[in-house]
Amino acid sequence: MIPLSIPNLAGNEWAYVKQCLDTGWVSSAGKFVNQFEDEVRGFTGAGHAIACMNGTAALHVAQIIAGVGPGDLVIAPNITFVATLNSISYTGAEAILLDTNPATWQLDLDVLERFFEEECELTDQGLIHKADGKTIKAVMPVHVLGNMCDMARLSELCTRVSAPIIEDSTEALGSTFRGKHAGTFGLFGTSSFNGNKIITTGGGGMIFTNDADLAARAKHLTTTAKTDPLDYFHDEVGYNYRLVNILAAVGVAQMEQLSGIIETKKFIDEYYRSELAGVGDIRFQKITDGVDANCWLFTFRTSRMRELLTYLNANGVQSRPFWTPMNQLPMYNGYRYYHVSDESSKLHAEAISIPSSSNLTETDLATVVATIKNFYAS
Ligand SMILES: Cc1ncc(COP(=O)(O)O)c(C=O)c1O
Repeated sequence: MIPLSIPNLAGNEWAYVKQCLDTGWVSSAGKFVNQFEDEVRGFTGAGHAIACMNGTAALHVAQIIAGVGPGDLVIAPNITFVATLNSISYTGAEAILLDTNPATWQLDLDVLERFFEEECELTDQGLIHKADGKTIKAVMPVHVLGNMCDMARLSELCTRVSAPIIEDSTEALGSTFRGKHAGTFGLFGTSSFNGNKIITTGGGGMIFTNDADLAARAKHLTTTAKTDPLDYFHDEVGYNYRLVNILAAVGVAQMEQLSGIIETKKFIDEYYRSELAGVGDIRFQKITDGVDANCWLFTFRTSRMRELLTYLNANGVQSRPFWTPMNQLPMYNGYRYYHVSDESSKLHAEAISIPSSSNLTETDLATVVATIKNFYAS
């Protein structure tokens, strides 16, 4: 089976993990955690980076610090991985789901603008959702597959209504909009280093912010809110969310390879786009103007998605469907879903992801393309 998206652990991972084991620094203190934060911060140009145990935890803590709590609302796209919505639920807030742009597959900014104009009111208490009187505390764009929406327009729309942006940039490490890195536009950004991401620590995440006070609070909350280096005094309900040294060691080794991995991902993306253009009714994701995407996971649309999925998986090419829209999941189907033509469910019915691991050989890539062509020819 040619795998969909597997880690590329070809660098110093063993050597750095061995250092942790040899020295006994395996847990939440240790030099690799700080080093990993520094490397990712330097790479992205974020003001501050705080390592966490996963991307969901990063999103959770970012929202708490942004003041999201029980009874509040957070705007999120209907097409995302479930962790986006779960992180909102953990705060006690609810999501307002907005439709997805059919070309870029990101939060649809026309829909967002209309939503602000028609459904919201800016008051002294904040941005109020008129239908239920609840406060919208944050807008959470998701940089789906490493693409982004027009971040200049999103920032302008959110500034107009004083709504902070918390970027679910978990899939977009290395992506930029007009040269600025994903995760550095909002009050907070986030990263995931889950096993299938562009680089991995097995499980891991990062919070980004440009504000020193917010960064200090993120570190505090993710490390059980302990105030004294010696005494066990904790000044609020904190979380045991800190990334551990042994995983950060893997992260440091992965960061050494990130630029090369992105180059390979871009090569894979270009290869598929040129080889699959005009095959069957395949349509590609449009990359937003101004975005330089990390090309994390190649995904395209076809009206024969289900048949193709079965065919590829039966013929040695691992592939998978796109996320079920959030409004179709049992725990979130009561949430309001603001849309004009329900592009989310159309995208879900058509999108399919194909092997994109950075360690695929050219023979693997040719096999993937040939198998897809065979399907449409048969
Ligand atoms: C869009 C999106 N949001 C959130 C997450 C959560 O990240 P993690 O798996 O590290 O908790 C992921 C990745 O799994 C993701 O793809």
